[in-house]
Amino acid sequence: AIERTLSIIKPDATRRNLTGKINAVIEEAGLRVVAQKRVRLTREQAEGFYAVHKERSFFGELVDFMVSGPVVVQVLEGENAVAKYREVMGATNPANADEGTIRKLFAESIEANSVHGSDSLENAAIEVAYFFAQTEIVG
Ligand code: CMP
Repeated sequence: AIERTLSIIKPDATRRNLTGKINAVIEEAGLRVVAQKRVRLTREQAEGFYAVHKERSFFGELVDFMVSGPVVVQVLEGENAVAKYREVMGATNPANADEGTIRKLFAESIEANSVHGSDSLENAAIEVAYFFAQTEIVG
C-alpha cells in the first residue's frame, strides 16, 4: 500500500551540507518527498519527539545533539514507505549498516547517524502530525 513516513535529516548531515545527497538516495529508492522544512528544534520539541526514549541512558545526549543545529523534517510517500525507508537508511549503528544505505554512506556514529525514520505505520502517523499540518503535505 502507499504509505507516508516521517524522516529527519539530522544536524550532523545538515552541518556537512548533505541534504541534497541524502534526498537523492531517497528519491532513487522510489520514495517521494511530499513535505519538507528546515527547522531548528527547541529542546521541548526534541524531548517530546523522543519521549519514548526518556528512560534510556543516551536520552540527554540525544536531545543535546538534535538541538545542536538545523534539521530537515520531511514526509516521504511511496509503496511500503515505512519499511522501505528503514531499508534505505540502514542500521541505527552505521558500523552495522549495509552498503549503499544512507547511514553507511554518510553517518558518523550511532548518535550522529544522519537520519531518522519512523519505525511503524502507527508511529509514522503520530510523528508526521508532530511536525506537519495536513495542508503542508502535498502528495
Ligand atoms: P533514531 O532513529 O533517531 O531514534 C533514536 C536515536 O537515538 C537513534 O536514532 C540514535 O541516533 C540515537 N542513539 C544514540 N545513542 C544510542 C544508542 N546507544 N542506542 C540506540 N540509539 C542511540
